Amino acid sequence: MSSEPLLEVENLTIEYETRQGPLTAVSNADFTVGEGEYFGLVGESGCGKSTLAKSIIGGLDDNGKIASGKLKYRGEEIQDLSDAQLNEEIRWKEIAYIPQASMNSLDPLQRLSEQAIEIANVHTDLTDEEALTQFKEMFEVVGLPENRIRDYPHEFSGGMQQRAIIALALFLKPSIIIADEPTTALDVIMQDQIFKYLDEIRGATDTSMILITHDISLVFETCDELAVMHGGQIAETGRITDVYDNPKHPYSYLLQRAFPDIRYPDRELETIEGTPPQQFGDVDYCTFANRCPWAEEGCRDAAPELEVSDRSAENHRASCFRSKEIFEQQDPDESLAAIRGDQA
Ligand SMILES: Nc1ncnc2c1ncn2[C@@H]1O[C@H](COP(=O)(O)OP(=O)(O)OP(=O)(O)O)[C@@H](O)[C@H]1O
Ligand code: SF4
Ligand SMILES: [Mg+2]
Repeated sequence: MSSEPLLEVENLTIEYETRQGPLTAVSNADFTVGEGEYFGLVGESGCGKSTLAKSIIGGLDDNGKIASGKLKYRGEEIQDLSDAQLNEEIRWKEIAYIPQASMNSLDPLQRLSEQAIEIANVHTDLTDEEALTQFKEMFEVVGLPENRIRDYPHEFSGGMQQRAIIALALFLKPSIIIADEPTTALDVIMQDQIFKYLDEIRGATDTSMILITHDISLVFETCDELAVMHGGQIAETGRITDVYDNPKHPYSYLLQRAFPDIRYPDRELETIEGTPPQQFGDVDYCTFANRCPWAEEGCRDAAPELEVSDRSAENHRASCFRSKEIFEQQDPDESLAAIRGDQA
């Protein structure tokens, strides 16, 4: 989708202070989300997805910090804004975040209407009445009856709570919603429904979305672009079709191969052999090197940059030293086999 950049993540590195020293949860992440675009962020558990998401709204845990890089919203740097500035200018009304395991994020002691009013009071100048009108509208969009806005969370089923959370995230009409595993806790039927509503929202608003999930098939069905993360690095990013049809990083290639029918299967991200790594200190190597069948010594000596690796698609980028050698051949299967030394 050709659209103005709404959110730019530029060479972002995020660290957590831990007893074993600084843990680098995200290194040099770089991607852009355009207006109205749905952007998928996929990768196995622990690869840094939630860390990246939380950093965008200034919500990192106390021991976490942006060590370097920039976050820009509509061209303005936001990575150094204070909590008060973020509340005033960004959170909820520009960028809404639906946290992982968000069912626990509803206040059990407050009616949903009260929670909506509180959010509106902190982040906008809307009157209570205006806030409730907007909240009711959004309640309907997500398929909840508006006469239930005064219910307490426990009066709703799990799926309804999740939809109420989506309504809370949406009613101030943010430009971007970051949804961190929005359906993981739900059964398959509920998951389908939520995604049906997310699609309807897409039709009804021009909201962008960053969808974080293990379920790569959801990303293929729902999103325009994606980033595949591994060990805190972005392995590959680009339009869904480009990455699927023409993977340029061994990790996405292996993921793609794990899903012969990747556009439709109802399956979770398959694990690739080996343990997901944790990185301490400077990440000056490819974080996939210990698991990559095509790794060579050089892969452990420097971190590959995310570079355009597909001449026909400028925003299709991969971070692999051997990408061109492996994937620019006529038949990547053959070149990968040859490089790995497989028997023909
Ligand atoms: N507060 C913290 N202190 C120390 N390490 C942390 C903290 N939060 C996350 N981490 C570590 O940072 C890395 C990235 O974690 P993160 O939660 O971002 O992963 P994720 O991709 O969202 O995983 P999942 O799919 O399981 O939600 C992991 O190694 C995790 O253990
Ligand atoms: S840089 Fe090396 S280890 Fe990393 S993905 Fe490419 S070939 Fe594999
Ligand atoms: Mg997470």
